[in-house]
Amino acid sequence: MTSLPIQPRKVAFDVSSVPRHWNGGDPVLTRFFDALSVHFPEGERFFIQSVRNFKDQVTDDQLIEDIRHFIRQEGQHGIVHDRFNDVMASQGVDVDKVTTNLRTFIRTTQKYLPKKYQLAMTAAFEHFTATLGEAMVSEKSDMFGEADPVMRALFLWHGVEEVEHKA
Ligand SMILES: [Fe+2]
Ligand SMILES: [Fe+2]
Repeated sequence: MTSLPIQPRKVAFDVSSVPRHWNGGDPVLTRFFDALSVHFPEGERFFIQSVRNFKDQVTDDQLIEDIRHFIRQEGQHGIVHDRFNDVMASQGVDVDKVTTNLRTFIRTTQKYLPKKYQLAMTAAFEHFTATLGEAMVSEKSDMFGEADPVMRALFLWHGVEEVEHKA
């Protein structure tokens, strides 16, 4: 397994004028990624918390640093996707309905499942996001070939960082 360094980046995406079907005018291709975007902020805050639960038990310096950068990356992803999700809501998508359901699921998980299990869930989800991230940045499958350039940059940035912090 090759390991990439986790690099927190300062980014800014002006999503204010992203069109409704931003991925090449294709509603299906757009809504696939929109659905991910709607789930990311709550999901990533869950990932952060599940790692934070164990932070004080970690003694390895590199791992402590990796955890710090992981939390920073996921925190940034949540902020950026929240902004875009607000734009989607202003375009008529019922973002609240999805996030309310997701929040209920996450709060239930946090209340009733062991913290180790929550961490395992995070590891599993990170596997999926890294796999998707790898596919997104692959030259063979440009999923954003015709996309709005801001959204293309946003998802590629997120994809790269998912690959970096997958472990
Ligand atoms: Fe993320
Ligand atoms: Fe992640």
